[in-house]
Amino acid sequence: MIPFNQPCLVGNELAYIADAVKRGKISGNGYYTQACQQFLENEFGYLKTLLTNSCTDALEMAALLIDIKAGDEVIMPSFTHVSTANAFLLRGAKIVFADVEANTPNLDVTKIASLVNKNTKAIVVVHYGGIAVNMQEVLHLAIEHNLFVIEDAAAALGGFYSKVPLGSIGHLAAISFHETKNVQCGEGGLLIINDERLIARAEILWEKGTNRVAFNRGEIPSYDWMDLGSSFLPSELNAAYLYAQLEKFGHIQTVRRQQWERYFESLAPLVESGRINIITTPEYAIANYHLFGLLCANELERDKLASGLLESGILAVSHYRALHLSPFFKNHYSGPELPNAVSFQHRILRLPLFHDLKDEDIAIICDRVKSLF
Ligand SMILES: Cc1ncc(COP(=O)(O)O)c(C=O)c1O
Repeated sequence: MIPFNQPCLVGNELAYIADAVKRGKISGNGYYTQACQQFLENEFGYLKTLLTNSCTDALEMAALLIDIKAGDEVIMPSFTHVSTANAFLLRGAKIVFADVEANTPNLDVTKIASLVNKNTKAIVVVHYGGIAVNMQEVLHLAIEHNLFVIEDAAAALGGFYSKVPLGSIGHLAAISFHETKNVQCGEGGLLIINDERLIARAEILWEKGTNRVAFNRGEIPSYDWMDLGSSFLPSELNAAYLYAQLEKFGHIQTVRRQQWERYFESLAPLVESGRINIITTPEYAIANYHLFGLLCANELERDKLASGLLESGILAVSHYRALHLSPFFKNHYSGPELPNAVSFQHRILRLPLFHDLKDEDIAIICDRVKSLF
């Protein structure tokens, strides 16, 4: 069996977990949490970062930080993970789903201006599979209408818009370190705060609504309940694992790029003959090689390809389902049809891509894909 994903050890994960225990503190905001945050701020130029238990946590913090309340509207693509929407719905927002582009599964920024009204509070962009959204129009609209921009950069660490690292563009951004991501710790996430005005409150929300972070820095004699909040900070055990992965970020990315290119070269004849398409990166973006996605002609062809691969012991998987048609949301949705979101739901098939995937396995997968055509 070739799995779709497999967690990996790339360096000092187990040694750092043991070291965290030896240091006598495995609850949150200790040595390894600080080390991860420092690394991410230095490497990607983020103004301020806070590790969280998940990208879901980081998105929920973002919704709290921008004070989403009933009546506020938040624009986002329908083709995304449920957490993008849940985080804002939990605070009472009205979710305004927009379609994605015909050629990429990213927000169609030419269609969002007509969705902005006096209740609009934020635009949430999702950099699909680490491929940047075309941000110019989003930023232009945000300035014109005084909106928050939030990047759901769940899978996008290491990707760029033009030459700018993803996660550093919006007022806030959220990243995932779930085990399927390039760099991972099982379950984990990151809130990025690029707007100085939001930093102090973010630290309070992070620590259950208390000013314990300032207390830990020795700035105040005791800590108190100051605001809303939750237990958004992860254990040092997760942070220790993550730090070992971050130290090997360059190596992890090189391996993924080589794997992606191997797939690309091997499947090129199928693309050239028009049998299949591949999700590629627009010229304004630099990919982080998070996924290798095939684009089939339709759902039937995609499902047949997936079951043909499965019969050979290869697990290839589809991706998001258009949220406006989900069982939970469809009865609340009265907007226009979003045909591109539905089309991507039906046509994407992601092939196995993970650190320890062998070249021989990629060759087997590509041969099987070709023979199924
Ligand atoms: C776009 C997007 N947002 C949010 C999430 C949730 O991430 P997590 O599992 O870290 O909460 C995911 C998960 O892959 C995602 O793809």
